[in-house]
Amino acid sequence: MCEAVLINEVGARDGLQNQPVHVSCDDKLRLIEALAAAGVRAIEATSFVSPKAVPQMADADQLFPRLPYPERIAYSALVPNRRGLERARAAGVKEIAVVLSATDTMNRRNINMSLDEAQAVSADTVRTAVADGVRAKAYVAVAFECPFEGAVASARVLALSESMFAAGAHEVVIADTIGAAAPAAVKRLLSECVSHFGAARLSAHFHDTRGFALANAWAALEQGIRKFDASLGGLGGCPFAPGAAGNAATEDMVVLFEQCGLATGVDLQKLRRAVVLAGQLVRLRIGGRTAAWLDAEDKRRVRAAGAAK
Ligand code: COA
Ligand code: ZN
Repeated sequence: MCEAVLINEVGARDGLQNQPVHVSCDDKLRLIEALAAAGVRAIEATSFVSPKAVPQMADADQLFPRLPYPERIAYSALVPNRRGLERARAAGVKEIAVVLSATDTMNRRNINMSLDEAQAVSADTVRTAVADGVRAKAYVAVAFECPFEGAVASARVLALSESMFAAGAHEVVIADTIGAAAPAAVKRLLSECVSHFGAARLSAHFHDTRGFALANAWAALEQGIRKFDASLGGLGGCPFAPGAAGNAATEDMVVLFEQCGLATGVDLQKLRRAVVLAGQLVRLRIGGRTAAWLDAEDKRRVRAAGAAK
């Protein structure tokens, strides 16, 4: 039997949150339908944050209860505080994610809290969620490098992760929010995290700012990580982290892992239809590193089908 990798699709949240074009609730649902049709099994659908901070996510309360196929797709939503958790619970969320940045300045920019406050609020949110039967993940954002404070020590990431597990988090996501890591750094940090917490409780989130997202995912995979965030078409970036380019593209991850014998459960051709739809919704040409090759393959298939007639 071949090994499996779980891709958590974050396009509807990390992908859309920074887009200047408003995407309606109905269009977000069409996008999520297209992802569901492609066999995606985990989706971060939205965030229950301040609509003033992130206007694109203002419809979270309406969107979440309408999400399709809740019996086969694990939906999660990002919440920054108790208020976000209350809104999420009212909307039927069964898995939340808190975002704790590894530096003081990044927490202030992102959620208007000091590092200590962010840690306390995140722990409280996780504890309350878990006590209520909700699954809780904790992002450790800017885990490699902060756009304001520079390199982040691994001891800091381990301590923050430890505090989130102590609060009851089921999973910690090590996030390279600005895409500053290279595979050697990923290997170093994730080998430490895996030896402390075990690979099964960890996942990884990469951005492609330097073109290293796939190489970084592979480095994480080699450390035992089997769960990755990715965003269709490589859409995304944090509005509060200058320099953050798009996420690792879901289709690139699928091509990479499947070619290496790791099952993702995602139908690449159907995923590409979702990428086309996402591009139309945000009015951008989007696509991962494999886009040119995938297009050439399509043309080759069409030619071969024509010749066979
Ligand atoms: N959802 C909706 N509204 C919220 C909220 C939430 N989770 N948390 C706070 N608010 C509202 C308050 O009710 C208050 O509303 P009012 O101005 O109408 O009275 C207002 O936001 C300010 O509340 P306050 O507690 O002072 O928050 P703040 O201004 O310090 O902002 C956050 C803190 C966390 C709410 C805000 O920074 C935020 O939502 N950040 C999210 C950033 C993000 O999504 N980043 C990308 C993902 S990593
Ligand atoms: Zn991100």
